[in-house]
Amino acid sequence: MEMEKTQREELIEQRIIDSETRVFKAVFPGDTNHHKTMFGGAVMYLMDEIAFMTATRFCRKPIVTVSSDKIDFKHSIPAGTLVEFVGKVTRVGRTSLDVQIDVFIESMYRDGRDKAITGTFTLVAINENKRPVPVID
Ligand SMILES: CC(C)(COP(=O)(O)OP(=O)(O)OC[C@H]1O[C@@H](n2cnc3c(N)ncnc32)[C@H](O)[C@@H]1OP(=O)(O)O)[C@@H](O)C(=O)NCCC(=O)NCCS
Repeated sequence: MEMEKTQREELIEQRIIDSETRVFKAVFPGDTNHHKTMFGGAVMYLMDEIAFMTATRFCRKPIVTVSSDKIDFKHSIPAGTLVEFVGKVTRVGRTSLDVQIDVFIESMYRDGRDKAITGTFTLVAINENKRPVPVID
């Protein structure tokens, strides 16, 4: 039997859809290491930034990153590819939320793409005193 959703659950569902954040990047030689693949630290920087954008768009409040979960680098990202970062809220707590970041790579010159990296970040909404506040009023 299907339970009726509360107003809060409906609001959260809608905000999760509306805050999904997609950012593309072209991988040029300046972004890569001596293996000619994207430097892991640069990828993590972008993942954290997109997690921040996703969380901010979800709650429209000041946000800080409090934790990052294991990040799996399944495939390297060669120079000359296009990369898409997709951020989606996967858990909503009281003052914190989780954002999963999936990173896809695609060739510039043929169709199709692969998921290369995935990781989850926990972010917290804060007030002007830098103390946690509810992510949703
Ligand atoms: C984020 C911060 C304000 C939280 O302060 P705090 O005293 O730990 O607050 P609380 O214990 O009340 O926890 C607040 C929320 O964060 C969650 N949390 C705290 N530490 C966490 C951790 N290590 N991992 C996951 N969640 C965590 C708590 O579970 C809680 O979530 P909930 O309200 O949804 O249940 C504080 O840790 C801080 O300022 N950290 C630095 C943030 C920063 O500068 N980030 C940029 C990196 S350089």
